[in-house]
Amino acid sequence: MRVAGSRYRRGMLPGLERVLIDRSAIAERVGDLGRRIARDLEAELARTGSRDAGSQVVIVGVLTGSLVFLADLVRELPLKLSMELITVSSYPGKTTVSRGVTVHEDIPHQLGGKHVLVVDDILDSGRTLSVIRDRIAAKAPASMRICVLLRKDCERAVEVDVDYVGFDIPDEFVVGYGLDYDGFYRNNPDIAILQTDTL
Ligand code: IMP
Ligand code: MG
Repeated sequence: MRVAGSRYRRGMLPGLERVLIDRSAIAERVGDLGRRIARDLEAELARTGSRDAGSQVVIVGVLTGSLVFLADLVRELPLKLSMELITVSSYPGKTTVSRGVTVHEDIPHQLGGKHVLVVDDILDSGRTLSVIRDRIAAKAPASMRICVLLRKDCERAVEVDVDYVGFDIPDEFVVGYGLDYDGFYRNNPDIAILQTDTL
């Protein structure tokens, strides 16, 4: 079938300027992260010596931006684990400026005593992850680690220590691989920069 438009042939959606991180680099890095995280969690479980160690691991995915990353990352974790999802929004509509953090559900109750891995798409101002980190800490997990695919090189409103970072990126608004602008572009397989006239 003939596909119209050169951008489609390169696998890029209209409105995008250029690829920042392509799908093969993402896949390779997600594999690395999975191996490191699995090793660390296995060591943690061995240290704490629980009988059904695997049932102690809970992955908390921060939707919607981490959707694609989360799906790929958990398949790189050969561990018994369960998953919980929380939905957070901070960029409603056509904006690239955070409007403050709204957490749409309660943090799951069953995190007490568990080894929690929080998975988010990007650390920007730090507001989102600081709210999530504090709310999960209040549930008294046995341990908490934070993994982000991207960390933006910008000044943080709130400092957040993350344990695993896929890529450090410049202070630009990026979309694709789950990240959106105004709800679009999450399905772009590469992480890309928007054309300025799209904003
Ligand atoms: P923070 O609270 O400013 O750290 O922002 C975190 C959330 O804002 C992320 O989880 C994303 O959903 C969103 N966000 C921040 N920067 C970008 C970006 O460049 N593109 C798309 N979404 C972003
Ligand atoms: Mg997010």
